[in-house]
Amino acid sequence: MDDVIRRRLDSEVALIRTIAHYIIESGGKRLRPALVLLAANAVGAQGTAKHELAAVVEFIHTATLLHDDVVDESSLRRGRRTANAEFGNAASVLVGDFLYSRAFQMMVDVGSARVMEVMANATNVIAEGEVLQLLNIGNPSTDEEQYLRVIRYKTAKLFEAATQVGAILGGAKPEVESALAAYGMHLGTAFQVIDDVLDYSGDFSETGKNLGDDLAEGKPTLPLIHVLRNGTEAERDVVRRAIETEGKADLEAVLAAIRRTGALDYARAKARLEAEAAEGHLATLPGSEWRDSLLQLASFSVERSF
Ligand code: IPE
Ligand code: IPE
Ligand code: MG
Ligand code: MG
Repeated sequence: MDDVIRRRLDSEVALIRTIAHYIIESGGKRLRPALVLLAANAVGAQGTAKHELAAVVEFIHTATLLHDDVVDESSLRRGRRTANAEFGNAASVLVGDFLYSRAFQMMVDVGSARVMEVMANATNVIAEGEVLQLLNIGNPSTDEEQYLRVIRYKTAKLFEAATQVGAILGGAKPEVESALAAYGMHLGTAFQVIDDVLDYSGDFSETGKNLGDDLAEGKPTLPLIHVLRNGTEAERDVVRRAIETEGKADLEAVLAAIRRTGALDYARAKARLEAEAAEGHLATLPGSEWRDSLLQLASFSVERSF
């Protein structure tokens, strides 16, 4: 998969090569391509298309990150300066577009209409999720249901597409394809809930991102939604104000309210339920080392610190 990535990052335009290599080579967990490969192997997919599609999914992920860091005005990712901090917003957005369209060129080469359908839908839903989230920014009356919808769209959808295309490549039966897709969706939901927990509790040396970015942005994530439902009047006030003013000034008071109301434990429990739902869907697969790895990824998505 990494070979495919290197080969397909090529462009005559030097700035595209520079920025694309900058972000791709800064690492990242390569979780989504791992899902393509594990799902494909779990259903016995042969051939090299799975490596192409794993790279496709990582390109789409990378494009969303380039755009996301512009929208979120983030300055750190994967332990170094974001592409927007290093090269500017315009270049980041345009190279994101390059990666999206390169991913679609690669899919055309693979030539499966079903795969194209799944990936085209997923890419579209991710964009919807990011726009829905934009509408919730600065809005403290965002509820858990609206929050979950955003994260299913912006994050879980690509996990779902990754496992689903893996299943399609192996010619899996419809019920196995649906089970792998559902596994990916629940896994991605757990993954993003924990991402939102780590924004208040993580360690930069592990996450490679700034803490408190979500608060600085006025993003009503699950820990804050929990305080708004369960806090004292004073705690609710502080969180409401922090969301509305879109600033980090009240971070200490917000953290205190998060601690006192057990908001992070609440969110972790929610993530655990999602991960268990993900695991449940793997029961349809025959036992294999690939299935074992998918099970381990479900635990990882909850216990992770990076
Ligand atoms: C970051 O995803 C964006 C989210 C959906 C939270 P990852 O945490 O998988 O990012 P990398 O690829 O490992 O850097
Ligand atoms: C990332 O969302 C989801 C997408 C890139 C579509 P976030 O904004 O919550 O993730 P980080 O914290 O920047 O990685
Ligand atoms: Mg972001
Ligand atoms: Mg974002």
